[in-house]
Amino acid sequence: MNTSAESRTILVTGGAGFIGANFVLEWIEQVGTRVVNLDKLTYAGNLANLDSLRGDARHVFVQGDIGDPVRVAQLLGDYRPWAVVNFAAESHVDRSILGAGEFIETNVLGTFRLLEAVRHHWQALPETERGGFRFLHVSTDEVYGSLGPSEPAFTEQHNYRPNSPYSASKAGSDHLVRAWHHTWGLPVLTTNCSNNYGPYQFPEKLIPLMILSAMQGKPLPVYGDGQNVRDWLFVTDHCAAIRTVLDRGVPGEVYNIGGNCERANLEVVRAICRTLDELLPDSPYRPHERLITFVQDRPGHDRRYAIDSSRIKRELGWEPTVTFEEGLRQTIRWYLEHEQWVSGVQSGEYRKWIAANYAQRAA
Ligand code: NAD
Ligand code: DAU
Repeated sequence: MNTSAESRTILVTGGAGFIGANFVLEWIEQVGTRVVNLDKLTYAGNLANLDSLRGDARHVFVQGDIGDPVRVAQLLGDYRPWAVVNFAAESHVDRSILGAGEFIETNVLGTFRLLEAVRHHWQALPETERGGFRFLHVSTDEVYGSLGPSEPAFTEQHNYRPNSPYSASKAGSDHLVRAWHHTWGLPVLTTNCSNNYGPYQFPEKLIPLMILSAMQGKPLPVYGDGQNVRDWLFVTDHCAAIRTVLDRGVPGEVYNIGGNCERANLEVVRAICRTLDELLPDSPYRPHERLITFVQDRPGHDRRYAIDSSRIKRELGWEPTVTFEEGLRQTIRWYLEHEQWVSGVQSGEYRKWIAANYAQRAA
């Protein structure tokens, strides 16, 4: 590795999870500078996501917690990154309903401790390095609450109205990030993104859960009436947006990121079934739609999310490039072609989660 690759090092947190791993893989391929990847390896963190980087000196993996100030300070001191990109979080709404403790621990307290470690490091940097330093916090559209059917999409000015323990904990972290900028001038950037899908997503989330369950002939558990709406974005488009904000975003500002792609859940599940019917002509489970099962709703289930991403388009020139139809097909093919990855994540721990979340939801 040459010295310029080292001097443009970034520190990524949560880079063994779904979006973080996609971001790290793309960063090394497209930008090529060193990535220090700090991840606690919770149930959602998976080193198999980063297999292709084995032996690559540009990727330094460190198992650890964003809430461990000594470890974070040491990494900042040793590697002197010019940017920190914070993906680390507990990210699944249903888990936050069954137990919110870890969400407060990592998303609120962990972010606080990370911010403090980064602030101390940043304040001690020479003037020449301080100006170019960035702390990018990856957040969610769920902090804005739920929309009615004809309300306009969330802009950056929308009030915060989080409804689940998950979104409340992410809202808390966003407020801390904002305060560290206003109080100390830490050069932060916050992104609030809509629902992602794509390769390496842990199959507790709607799209991979439905793909794998349908392939395996299991029921497809649609919550409530299936008419809740999400705004879907292919994960590589999200990663490109984050690189754009890091590169050209204005410190202290917030950028909404979305796919301009609202779909009702039932529509998404049906699209998955149709694609699998086509890709698996010999499957005994065709037509896969037969497997759809309506189950008890998620408590406090937000009805609709939609992101207005006109700011990032207008000011920074980013917009999504992958259509939902292309992205979904690519995702389904990826799961079909990665049997080993699938069997690795559908282990004992995963089966316990499926039992805990779905056993009580009578069809
Ligand atoms: P994920 O659950 O797949 O991955 C989270 C990663 O963080 C895992 O690798 C986990 O081991 C790690 N982690 C958890 N606690 C940690 C801690 N205390 N210290 C260090 N590492 C820790 O999540 P994801 O879907 O990739 O989401 C990444 C980020 O993007 C999250 O902050 C999430 O809120 C946000 N986000 C996700 C989506 C989405 O649709 N998935 C959309 C918008 C925003
Ligand atoms: O909007 C961004 C958010 O999107 C991220 O911040 C979260 O980290 C991410 O998990 C996601 O949250 P959702 O709750 O929208 O995603 P999930 O995949 O859990 O559910 C999507 C929709 O599908 C939601 O309306 C609930 C429904 N659903 C989900 C599951 C797991 C079902 O109908 N059945 C299911 O089994």
